[in-house]
Amino acid sequence: MVRIKTPPLENLLVEERRMDRRRRSSYLCSTQCLIKAHAVKVEANVNTISDVYRDSIRYKPETLTRIFEGISSKALRSPQRLVEIGVGTGYALEIASKVFLDAELVGVDVVPGMLEKADARKYQTQPRFFLTSAESINLPDKFSALTYSCCAFHLFQKKLEAASEMIRITEPGGLVAVIGYSHADLQSQVFHEYFPEFSRRELILHPEPSQISDIFTSLGATIEGTIREEFSVNFESPDEVVELIEERQFFGLRTMPDDVFELGKIEFEESFRNFYVNKPVVSVSALTATLFRV
Ligand SMILES: C[S@@+](CC[C@H](N)C(=O)[O-])C[C@H]1O[C@@H](n2cnc3c(N)ncnc32)[C@H](O)[C@@H]1O
Repeated sequence: MVRIKTPPLENLLVEERRMDRRRRSSYLCSTQCLIKAHAVKVEANVNTISDVYRDSIRYKPETLTRIFEGISSKALRSPQRLVEIGVGTGYALEIASKVFLDAELVGVDVVPGMLEKADARKYQTQPRFFLTSAESINLPDKFSALTYSCCAFHLFQKKLEAASEMIRITEPGGLVAVIGYSHADLQSQVFHEYFPEFSRRELILHPEPSQISDIFTSLGATIEGTIREEFSVNFESPDEVVELIEERQFFGLRTMPDDVFELGKIEFEESFRNFYVNKPVVSVSALTATLFRV
């Protein structure tokens, strides 16, 4: 069950604290029903993202290739098996399959539709996929020589548990990599610039690379450094970007309460279109891999 607090519910809970006991117990029932209904709605929203998910808007393949080459140079030997946590549609795993040519590939995710898409993709070596969560990975200890997540760690609800699981399934001497965005590299993206509420929520979810380092080193892993690769994504027209927002392409847009999303979308469209009248849209960013030795 996805659990998030929403502003309207937060307001209700404040009101609830002011009530007398009898009114309060019946009120609590309805509040909890609301929270449950909201969580179910959010879960449905998240699960259907695989129907529209467009991986190519997230980063350029060559950017990730360079990151994987950097990771590969730190490996003690060519990894025999690698596992991607939060594999999504397999976009990153396909790129990994072209860099780690000898590796057996495994991808895990919690959204079945994502795994179906990942399974349909063409790889250098066909991977195995498992429906299992980052916080409790259903794979044996020391299973993998390289365990990584790409643009997914911020979505793991319990980051310490997820990090501990990533370390557990990695063999001694093996590598763990968390690939994602620093706050500055999120804020330079057009979606963040023109949708402040989305940006605010995303920044809360995304740990900075230094915080990721703190999590993994507190669990006994050794930091091997960071690799940052800049990239930009070009959009054909402002319409294309507006459509991506309307589709709620990002998990952060889907977990937003509908009323908050609708309001932000209107503001986004207005300010974004005003700025990009007859101009090509270029969204600038960078991926950062934080690398650990187990
Ligand atoms: C933004 S997508 C990235 C997909 C892929 N790694 C890529 O780079 O294209 C994030 C993925 O993480 C998955 N995810 C979110 N929470 C998860 C969890 N707790 N355990 C495993 N996967 C999770 C989502 O279902 C989604 O497929």
